[in-house]
Amino acid sequence: MRKILVTGALGQIGSELVPALRERHGAEQVVASDLRGAPGGVEGPVEHLDCTDPQELHELLQRHDIGVIYHLAALLSAVAVEKPQEAWNVNTGGTFLVLEAARLYGCAVFQPSSIGAFGPTTPRENTPQDTIQRPTSMYGVTKVTGELLCDYYALRFGVDTRGLRLPGIISHVAPPGGGTTDYAVDIFYQAIRHRRYSCFLRGDTRLDMMYMPDAINAIIQIMAAPPANLKHRNAFNVTAMNFTPEELAAEIRKHIPDFEIDYEIDPVRQAIADSWPRSVDDSAARAEWGWIPSYDLGTMTRDMLDKLRLKLKPAN
Ligand code: NAD
Ligand code: SER
Repeated sequence: MRKILVTGALGQIGSELVPALRERHGAEQVVASDLRGAPGGVEGPVEHLDCTDPQELHELLQRHDIGVIYHLAALLSAVAVEKPQEAWNVNTGGTFLVLEAARLYGCAVFQPSSIGAFGPTTPRENTPQDTIQRPTSMYGVTKVTGELLCDYYALRFGVDTRGLRLPGIISHVAPPGGGTTDYAVDIFYQAIRHRRYSCFLRGDTRLDMMYMPDAINAIIQIMAAPPANLKHRNAFNVTAMNFTPEELAAEIRKHIPDFEIDYEIDPVRQAIADSWPRSVDDSAARAEWGWIPSYDLGTMTRDMLDKLRLKLKPAN
């Protein structure tokens, strides 16, 4: 059987997608790759791969006989503000090279897009599946381009490309990689360690979010969906919950009553957040491949606190 390749596998999503894929397909079937060095104690093949290097990419695809690529390598929204050229090269150049290699070697491709693919002229409430996409961040520019490139390779060359517009992902295994929604992860670490958090977004900033187990299920589910059902194959709106920092703090206070939050606004990330939807309509994902999230704000908060308390428990 042809193998699976995950790029950017050491990031927030890859750290949990790789074990989930290995559990389903067997450790040897899933090749984890990243620009960074391999972590210790990982079962299964791990390779260095810079997704902007076509030679390294082609050599790896041939050597492992790869049939499916989960292309996660990217620079996130806040990092892309500081490094716009590198963001374009990795997010757009890397995606183009992955699609071109997929065409040559007959691979299917999962490519994550984001709520960052929308902009200030997009309807911000219940953002439709098909709507205006004029993002004002470099991250958003690369995400829209990625959606279009995936559409093009599917239409023109029949490459089986699929994708999701993910919201902010909340998780406890690997830290987030420098996004605008990172506060919704950091807040849990600080709540447990210090019972207070200084938030870089305004308290009333509403954004869509999803707990990692739902994100992993969504990625696996869309890749398994019958192709004939997928009218919006590359850029499905998906969401599980939306909340503001004030509402998240109130939910944490149900478990840590003396938790306090204050605000030190980062104007750069605030401007990005203010250009994104406050809520998205994911009815196309529900209708076309049966998307249903399992976690809401209450169940996610409880599970994050339980898991992080164990993880952060001082060793005796
Ligand atoms: P991350 O920043 O945690 O991880 C990205 C990984 O890519 C890192 O391990 C990094 O070392 C690697 N990388 C960077 N440049 C590379 C290169 N040239 N070649 C190979 N690897 C390289 O990101 P993530 O949160 O795991 O996100 C994965 C994907 O999902 C990205 O496309 C991101 O835009 C998208 N996404 C993430 C979120 C989220 O909240 N985490 C939300 C929406 C979409
Ligand atoms: N969580 C991501 C970010 O903030 C959204 O794509 O960059």
